[in-house]
Amino acid sequence: MDNTADELLDWYDGHRRSLPWRVTDGEWPDPYRVWLSEVMLQQTTTAAVAPYFAKFTARWPTVEALAAAPEEDVMAAWAGLGYYSRARNLVHCARAVAAMGGFPASEAELRRLPGLGAYTAAAVAAIAFGQRAVVIDANVERVVARLFAIDEPLPGARKAIRAAADAITPDHRAGDFAQAMMDLGATICTARDAKCMLCPLSSRCEGRASGDPLRLPVKAAKKAKPRRRGTAFWIEREGAVWLVTRPGRGMLGGMRALPDDGWSARGDGADDPPLPGMWQAAGVVRHSFTHFDLELGVAAYAGEGMDGLTGGEWWPLDRLDEAGLPTLFAKAGMLVLARG
Ligand code: ADE
Repeated sequence: MDNTADELLDWYDGHRRSLPWRVTDGEWPDPYRVWLSEVMLQQTTTAAVAPYFAKFTARWPTVEALAAAPEEDVMAAWAGLGYYSRARNLVHCARAVAAMGGFPASEAELRRLPGLGAYTAAAVAAIAFGQRAVVIDANVERVVARLFAIDEPLPGARKAIRAAADAITPDHRAGDFAQAMMDLGATICTARDAKCMLCPLSSRCEGRASGDPLRLPVKAAKKAKPRRRGTAFWIEREGAVWLVTRPGRGMLGGMRALPDDGWSARGDGADDPPLPGMWQAAGVVRHSFTHFDLELGVAAYAGEGMDGLTGGEWWPLDRLDEAGLPTLFAKAGMLVLARG
């Protein structure tokens, strides 16, 4: 009988990380808090998530409270966490769950909720409801690839990794097992380091036995990201700046922003400035998105008339941190304001 899971669970009992969304022994966690944390933790570190989790759960303590929140408030509160479609889906999902009277407990039903992908559905089923589910994030992927020396390159290796993870997933303590794998990957079997001396699974690890666990998982060579260029426009009047809300479902959709030259909509950045006349270069902000790197020039309005402005709002500069600007535009604002 394979007892990998029990060895890992023993280790977890003594070494689990204390994280704000975890509960102490013996209690069942609130599915709302589990779901919220798992959505926030996608592509985002525990350190970055912690203050957002605290802010969200203080402001919207239940899924019903979040369901009743205006979408724009949730988008603004999400500002800085990135991948903003998560925030839009969060509200839609909260409304669907509130309408159902609570979270469903099975992985298959969870998967049907708006925005819940395979990972989140499995994680919530296991952690909140104790259902056996194969939960694979990047940490787990690395641990499993090393444990079984799976040396096919990613993403092709995912099938083998899933099958291997499935084979060691126990029927009991499903949530603890999933989180133990994550903690092992986050603290011991890390991307840059494999602290095999501290690892509870080292004696059975084929990656370690092969002599070079760090080469795993093998990744296909990364393509260089394309670089895009664009311009954001800073228009200031009497201690306020002109902000727009970005349309629909596109990049940073639904988020407050500086007006821009259309760099994200079509990638050509050819739209006219929001006002004709004098513009002064205020500097350049660099930001990396998933599929491209952006070099965003910031142009400050130095003209006179502002009558032509439509479709936005004047936002007081002394409350700019409450506007819910995505990091890109917050950086642009800091650049201009630092110039004095
Ligand atoms: N990463 C994603 N979900 C996590 C969890 N529940 N615990 C630790 N790290 C995580």
